Amino acid sequence: MWVSAVAVSLAGMVALVVTARWLQWREDGTGARGGGSGGGARARPNVVVGPWRMTAFQRLDFTADDVARCVEGSDGIIGAGSSGTVYRAKMPNGEVIAVKKLWQPSAQKEGGAQAPEEPPKRKDEADADGGNRSMLAEVEVLGHLRHRNIVRLLGWCTDGEATLLLYEYMPNGSLDELLHGAVCRGKQAGLDWDARHRIAVGVAQGMSYLHHDCVPAVAHRDLKPSNILLDADMEARVADFGVAKALQGAAPMSVVAGSYGYIAPEYTYTLQVDEKSDVYSFGVVLLEILIGRRSVEAEYGEGSNIVDWTRRKVAAGNVMDAAEWADQQTREAVRDEMALALRVALLCTSRCPQERPSMRDVVSMLQEVRQGRKILAPGMAKKQPNKD
Ligand SMILES: Nc1ncnc2c1ncn2[C@@H]1O[C@H](COP(=O)(O)OP(=O)(O)OP(=O)(O)O)[C@@H](O)[C@H]1O
Ligand SMILES: [Mg+2]
Repeated sequence: MWVSAVAVSLAGMVALVVTARWLQWREDGTGARGGGSGGGARARPNVVVGPWRMTAFQRLDFTADDVARCVEGSDGIIGAGSSGTVYRAKMPNGEVIAVKKLWQPSAQKEGGAQAPEEPPKRKDEADADGGNRSMLAEVEVLGHLRHRNIVRLLGWCTDGEATLLLYEYMPNGSLDELLHGAVCRGKQAGLDWDARHRIAVGVAQGMSYLHHDCVPAVAHRDLKPSNILLDADMEARVADFGVAKALQGAAPMSVVAGSYGYIAPEYTYTLQVDEKSDVYSFGVVLLEILIGRRSVEAEYGEGSNIVDWTRRKVAAGNVMDAAEWADQQTREAVRDEMALALRVALLCTSRCPQERPSMRDVVSMLQEVRQGRKILAPGMAKKQPNKD
């Protein structure tokens, strides 16, 4: 009799423990869907417990919850910019992606802690809201772009409050770090003329694709070295083509388009950005690649950027000496090619937008820089002993 009483009470205890565990597991699952782990979501006032929704632009072998879990802490942060924080996120299947968690507009305005925002609505919710529909249409367009020199937007997630943009992960960082990072300052290790030329052509090809092969044409609006990333083969990939701005609505466009040092001069009176403004920004980037200096430095003088400074150096006939990344011998060897590339950069940064070439022409001109070498190389090799 007592044996069966003990057995019944033991069974009851096991059932209780199992029920409690199950309830806790269910609770955890809800927390994870809301962007937190465990019961932590409720303790954080700026996280709304709601299901994460994902809009994917290709087949993805992970869920919105998997992505949300990766951006909870600060462990995976690899950078932060004007539109959000970027995380390196490893998915359960081992795939690594980059996730940009957008700043929420109200927080951005106040410059303080994140505050609740009006979330991007889903397609069905957006029907009552024409602006939102066009914004989502723009993101949809950007999500379907495919080119070897473009960082692919894989999709985006929202829980009704936060917005996460999912990108291909670029393991070799940005051109900004490569050109101007602490370890690369001065003689930029490993980045010889061939590598610089290849990066310049890659960026030009990516931009040419956006301008000439996409219908409608896509203006980048913010081309600069931190928006040029390097893939595993050190191939340049253009990133951040207007996606964050599109998702955050039209407002940022009317406030500022582009980044200081890269904005075409006509923007100050037209407040318009188009493909020709991108060509100007590309010219600035090309000058940075050629000379190895930042677009804005104190040495250029009040109100001057690398374009004004380079023009002064060209007039004085000593612009090549400014390319400190290369030693004298290297500069001699590739002088003609660098001079041609410099002319392309100066053309791109013409004050008058109509005088700037198209990105398609820029690609051809930059490719010819190297073709010239192939033709000239044997003759140049013979000439060299006479020089010394
Ligand atoms: N897809 C990616 N793969 C690897 N690293 C990335 C990726 N996207 C961004 N990063 C890194 O995160 C940093 C911050 O990017 P983010 O776009 O937020 O800011 P930014 O480019 O410096 O400025 P802005 O917000 O004006 O574009 C980049 O400089 C880059 O090093
Ligand atoms: Mg960026």
